Amino acid sequence: MSSQITRTQVAIAGAGPAGLMLAHLLHRAGIESIVLELRDREYVERRVRAGVLEQGTVDLLDETGVGERMHREGLIHRGVALRFNGESHRIAFDELTGKAVTVYGQQEVVKDLIAARLAYGGALHFEAEVTGITGLETERPTVIYRTPNEGEARIEADFVAGCDGFHGVSRGAIPPNALQIYEREFPFAWLGILAESPPVSEELIYTNHERGFALVSMRSPTITRLYVQAPADDDVGAWSDDRFWSELRARLGSDEGGPDVVEGTVLQKGLTAMRSFVVEPMRYERLFLAGDSAHIVPPTGAKGMNLALSDVRALSRALDAFYNTGRSELLDGYSDTCLRRVWKTQRFSAWMTGMLHRFPDHTPFERHVQLAELDYVTSSRAPAQSLAENYVGLPFS
Ligand code: FAD
Ligand code: DHB
Repeated sequence: MSSQITRTQVAIAGAGPAGLMLAHLLHRAGIESIVLELRDREYVERRVRAGVLEQGTVDLLDETGVGERMHREGLIHRGVALRFNGESHRIAFDELTGKAVTVYGQQEVVKDLIAARLAYGGALHFEAEVTGITGLETERPTVIYRTPNEGEARIEADFVAGCDGFHGVSRGAIPPNALQIYEREFPFAWLGILAESPPVSEELIYTNHERGFALVSMRSPTITRLYVQAPADDDVGAWSDDRFWSELRARLGSDEGGPDVVEGTVLQKGLTAMRSFVVEPMRYERLFLAGDSAHIVPPTGAKGMNLALSDVRALSRALDAFYNTGRSELLDGYSDTCLRRVWKTQRFSAWMTGMLHRFPDHTPFERHVQLAELDYVTSSRAPAQSLAENYVGLPFS
């Protein structure tokens, strides 16, 4: 049986924040695309991940007409607290930068983008697994995919956007000798829960404690999002709800005057590995990588989704220039443009991770330096402003 071939301008692998926003931006520029997503719609819309939107991300959602629910349901945060030695210290984003962040779940952004795509009849196929990308050196690269009902099919495009995340297939379609990989694994993970309980405090608290890192965040006035540092090779099954709550309370110092926690029903629990990863360049011939397929940041500082969206904003502008004015300089500069912001974000995420976690190999000397750094950041305007400037987000490329 010969497989069906469809033709489009841009074939997009993956319907995470990167793939969906790229399709949306291209549609607005009059460029046709087809999005292929491995999972079903319900799975994608329920996947609990990021929650903090930079000001630039909020502006992007607004400018492109998909920010309405975010403004209604999102929570504006004008600061965060860093907690160590039993005390919390506020970093005031508004006063230090004039900006803020918005707490709004990644899956809500994904829902809004899917709804917008379907409303204008854009092509978006769920349960469509990309299995290969061929002909990248030709003018007609081809994406091969498989669906449960139709079996194997192909899309012939002018360009392919690899927005299929860290475990996708796009990056693997590039000859290994055309890529340079930079990576670092951290010797710990985050055990995260989503719970039916009011937020622990009005703003996020990043805690450095002898027993390890803890983070309290939220999704709404009744849903809280909480994380504790756990061993890298840990097993979610080893974390009963009781163990989680008591570990979190110990790290927050809840019994010693620290923030108190209202224990509620745990809706979701998961373990996230911590790594830094960058692939260079982010382009090979007619394939452009964007988001987690090209880079991973450790989650401390909440940068991954924001970075994915800044990539696709740059890519959509480059494709717009190519199709609508015949200029290819922006496409040629795509990788360099993105990587400048990617590396600065890597720096920030690794710095926050280093400052806030318990490292198994830290000597007492290194532990003292870590606490001195927290003391410095929370008592001097210059480092506090640097943290705030990066947290609310560096300008989009
Ligand atoms: P993804 O969201 O991974 O999307 C890729 C899509 O491609 C998926 O839908 C996948 O199913 C699909 N796919 C994979 N393989 C194929 C295939 N072969 N064919 C077709 N489709 C395929 N970031 C922040 O900015 N702020 C935060 O607060 C934050 N917190 C986080 C907390 C946790 C616990 C985790 C795990 C991550 C967090 N991140 C955060 C990171 C953020 O979630 C990611 O950076 C973001 O999802 C990247 O978007 P993406 O579209 O590039 O990739
Ligand atoms: C959340 C995740 C992060 O990685 C972070 O740094 C802050 C908040 C969250 O899921 O709410």
